[in-house]
Amino acid sequence: MRIYIKTYGCQMNERDSEALAGMLAARGHQLVHSEEEADVLLFNTCSVREQAERKAIGKVGFMKKLKQKNPDLLIGILGCMAQRRGEELFCELPHLDFVLGTGRLHTLPDLLEKLAAERKHVVDVTESSAVLTAMGCHYPAPGSCAAQIAITRGCNRFCAYCIVPYVRGREISRDRADVIREARELADTGIREILLLGQNVAAYGLGGNIQPPPPDVSPFADLLEELAQIDGIQRIRFTSPYVSYFNDRLIQAIAATPKVCRNIHLPLQSGSNRILQAMNRQYTAESYLETVEKLQTAMPGITFSTDIIVGFPGEEDSDFNATRELMERVGFDNAFIFKYSPRPGTRAATWEDRVPQSVKEERNQLLLEDLAARTRRHLRALVGTKQSVLVEGVSKRMQERWSGRTDGNRTVHFLPVDGLKAGDMADVRILRAGNVSLFGEIVRKEGK
Ligand code: 5AD
Ligand code: SF4
Repeated sequence: MRIYIKTYGCQMNERDSEALAGMLAARGHQLVHSEEEADVLLFNTCSVREQAERKAIGKVGFMKKLKQKNPDLLIGILGCMAQRRGEELFCELPHLDFVLGTGRLHTLPDLLEKLAAERKHVVDVTESSAVLTAMGCHYPAPGSCAAQIAITRGCNRFCAYCIVPYVRGREISRDRADVIREARELADTGIREILLLGQNVAAYGLGGNIQPPPPDVSPFADLLEELAQIDGIQRIRFTSPYVSYFNDRLIQAIAATPKVCRNIHLPLQSGSNRILQAMNRQYTAESYLETVEKLQTAMPGITFSTDIIVGFPGEEDSDFNATRELMERVGFDNAFIFKYSPRPGTRAATWEDRVPQSVKEERNQLLLEDLAARTRRHLRALVGTKQSVLVEGVSKRMQERWSGRTDGNRTVHFLPVDGLKAGDMADVRILRAGNVSLFGEIVRKEGK
């Protein structure tokens, strides 16, 4: 069958889609890049904000025309919105064929074969942890030198605004040997950078316990150290950790493991203690800053990115200003800023959504402006420095140049030198800073 997959939402969804593509290709199916040439349309959906759900519903609604032209077309909704809304999706989208939830993704190849033989509506939103071990397949883009590995699934933290624990279920960690094997296999195929994924990666191996462990215990640190020993893996990144799990053991392990990139995504959500408490985030602005400072002391030059929600119920100007100030103080060089979206079933959704949309917009805008100014400053400060860059290949924006990323996750454009290949590490002198990326020249190239 010719299969088209469209993915909404986070990196975990991207990774799930990639694993599904790998599994389907292994069964002899062909992945295609447009809806028109497909026999099967798959929509891997997100529920984290209402907008993401609306977009997917709109898109699938639009597919009705294709189904009218080709009644054999199979259309499925997968992932978080499938899990959250199940059966009711058929009322809104009568041309839909099946709904497959987050715990059952791995059954997709069998399900498609069954549906090709016998047409009927199928809904499967059974909760299951089998998906954890069954989704290790990869389907790398040609020439790619980076890959993602899911190490945990689900979340036990129940932040008051968040739908994830309801749609992705309880937090479970993959077996260490399984993760290591996957990383080794990837290294053997030329992968140089791995991104470890999970809703709360730093809680890896803690059995879903939401109490952070003692200062000297961190199974996540053990995992990082073991992954760093794999030949060929040059860089390790991870997303997203919860700040409270950055204990001494983890900070020391990262500091002593240069392959772990000195750029950490550390969701803050708000800089106001009152709002953090209402969000059920188990840290304060002070304790967050303390962890950041410990990381900065252990690794001078480390950079941070974050997630922020503006307009959470009850957020006053003073709360917002506290967020703004803390963001400046940490000096985040990247941030994902979200306008609060009430999600049915979460605790915060039962509270009055008191912040008007116009105020959310305004706060969002202010944080984006602050961020753009900080990013420009940060990039300018890198001019004249030498950065270690993982070469990715011909730049998407400029055919004559190549690009790669710094340890701090900044894109650098440069002219290629003889023999340069994707996956090489190169030292690049930064000559110029743009608004979001850097320009430089290769001063030294290392083989793989
Ligand atoms: N509204 C807005 N943003 C949200 N996030 C999670 N739930 C919501 C919501 N209901 C944001 C958080 C999280 C990121 C992945 O999405 O910032 O870290
Ligand atoms: Fe959602 Fe909080 Fe879990 Fe992150 S830690 S996935 S915000 S419940």
